[in-house]
Amino acid sequence: MARVFSGVKPTADVPHLGNYIGAFRQWVALQDLHECIFCVVDLHSLTVPWDPELLRKRSRSAAASLIASGIDPERSVLFLQSEVMEHTELTWILTCVSRMGELSRMTQFKDKSRNTENESIGTGLYMYPVLMAADVLVYRGELVPVGEDQKQHLELMRDIAERFNRTFGDTFPVPDPYIPVEGARIMGLDDPAYKMAKTTERPNNLIWMNDPPEVVRKKILRAVTDSGREVVASPDKPAITNLLSIYSAVTARPVSEIEQEYEGKGYGDFKKGLAQAVIDFLDPFRARYLEILEDPGRLDKILDTGAAQAREMAQETMQVVRDRIGLRRS
Ligand code: TYM
Repeated sequence: MARVFSGVKPTADVPHLGNYIGAFRQWVALQDLHECIFCVVDLHSLTVPWDPELLRKRSRSAAASLIASGIDPERSVLFLQSEVMEHTELTWILTCVSRMGELSRMTQFKDKSRNTENESIGTGLYMYPVLMAADVLVYRGELVPVGEDQKQHLELMRDIAERFNRTFGDTFPVPDPYIPVEGARIMGLDDPAYKMAKTTERPNNLIWMNDPPEVVRKKILRAVTDSGREVVASPDKPAITNLLSIYSAVTARPVSEIEQEYEGKGYGDFKKGLAQAVIDFLDPFRARYLEILEDPGRLDKILDTGAAQAREMAQETMQVVRDRIGLRRS
């Protein structure tokens, strides 16, 4: 049994289908085999400008989305990052073990700060991966299920853990990324060259997990396709390959079986089938999500219990860390 940690940023009302396929789907399955800790990383949301009321609302709705996706608070620890102070304490310590060079090489940082003058790039954005490392290491996490876009952050996390261990003695397990073979990078429906992303301003880029059926249908029927008319996954058909990944994930059927089903049929039939499959998948999610939000008392209790459990584990680690680095008087 490994200790699993992962997190989601509450930067939208609900996650999109890419978040589910690339991450939550694995989180749900890992609960059966491992000790799991899942976190709504509200502190990470502060790395770009934010609205306090909206953040408050979105932190709750992110937690509700995780439960509606199948995270079981009876088996997994579910909590808000800012409610366990040890994350920020370890962040500072790891900041002092990390290097400007390695942080400057992070592609997410480079992408997000591309059009900003050096003078005004947020320091929080720069430190983002150190906070991520602290999230996992404060629980001595061993396995981190994420989508492909987080791979580089995971490599940095491993470097920081190794450097700390070399300097102060073996303290942290070096965490392994857990990235799915299929669906680790779901691309935008309107442009398969870019990933599906919460920060997009193009409504047809993504499917929100609470999109009503008619919206899902419209977005899928409008999705860009490739030349030709055969429904097959191949490198020269990035759009159809992406749609097949989505189809496969929401139906839990292998891509080859779906290709067979649409042999000799065109893109139109395929999109209709995909739209229905996504709608059937999202229907129960939406019902559960609304039910959870209707009972704020229950959600508060889940998050209180989760934070208490997480705090206990984090405090245990921090006692060892403080001792190792010389922050205890005797
Ligand atoms: P966030 O909220 O941006 O994304 C949550 C998860 O969804 C995955 N994901 C995708 N997977 C496939 N296709 C996509 N288009 C797609 N878009 C997003 C992400 O890889 C992620 O797994 N930095 C993290 C949050 C975090 C974290 C951590 C994760 C903070 N601390 C510690 C692991 C461990 C993030 O990107 O969240």
